[in-house]
Amino acid sequence: MRDAECIEFLQWALPRLDLRWAGFRKPRRQVCRRITQRVSALGLSGLAEYRRTLESEESGTGEWAVLDLLCRVTISRFFRDRRVFEALGRKVLPQLAHAAEGEGRTALRAWSVGCASGEEPYSLRILWHFEVTPQADGLELEIVATDIDEHLLKRALRARYPAGSLREVPDSWKGEAFRQEETGEFVLRESFRRGVELRLEDVRVTAPPGRFDLVLCRNLAWTYFGESAQRRVLARIASALRPGGLLVVGGHEVLPGDGDDGTVFELLERSTYSKRSRPKASREETSATQ
Ligand SMILES: C[S@@+](CC[C@H](N)C(=O)[O-])C[C@H]1O[C@@H](n2cnc3c(N)ncnc32)[C@H](O)[C@@H]1O
Repeated sequence: MRDAECIEFLQWALPRLDLRWAGFRKPRRQVCRRITQRVSALGLSGLAEYRRTLESEESGTGEWAVLDLLCRVTISRFFRDRRVFEALGRKVLPQLAHAAEGEGRTALRAWSVGCASGEEPYSLRILWHFEVTPQADGLELEIVATDIDEHLLKRALRARYPAGSLREVPDSWKGEAFRQEETGEFVLRESFRRGVELRLEDVRVTAPPGRFDLVLCRNLAWTYFGESAQRRVLARIASALRPGGLLVVGGHEVLPGDGDDGTVFELLERSTYSKRSRPKASREETSATQ
């Protein structure tokens, strides 16, 4: 399939799935490859015929649901956006830990949304071990990691990674957290997998049960989802967070605008938002009281 042909197809199909072409522009080849395989598995002559098949179906059903699953970008690595993890280790996690201890709690809870093969939740787990445990011994970190792709979750369970995935892991932590195999791959040691629960979930539809102190939603919703899906996900995350809980987004991402519905989040520092204890008054409410 020619690149231009795939671009035209994606520009037509993505908005119909409430996904954003702008997010897919750069990493589109991964998605185009999957669509090519799908077209040939269906025995179709090409993208024009695939489009006609989609047009004959109602959105959200049948082939649209298959296409939705194909339109995913799965790139990840340990400690991606190193500066975000530095801020988490230096400031964000110690502050959350301190507050939780002050409330007499024995655990902090974090949710990694779109966890890919485990790189993000395990990075958090490693960071917790090296940066927070020495100061807050006795406080546990429970991590719930969700993804829509069961193959990625199976890889997360195996916790076996190529060297390239670990290129941002500090050298002094690598040896303690991973065991290197003869094949050159790195396997995360069992003690660093403890406390990480993996779940198959679509963040557009559900959130894991319970409330969280910290949510990492990076390089997913704010890059690839369309506007209404972004707003729904933001509302879901807001309900899942405790008041004062924190939401961390990707290095190049910003949350959707607050519109007229009362801002729930405020930017604390680079890529980190705090959930207000009470949402900001909406413009309507403000003018009604004037
Ligand atoms: C680009 S990766 C980002 C992984 C990680 N958060 C990071 O920043 O490195 C996006 C991940 O989100 C997952 N994903 C895509 N759509 C999803 C959805 N609707 N619900 C949950 N996960 C989804 C993909 O399978 C993929 O693993």
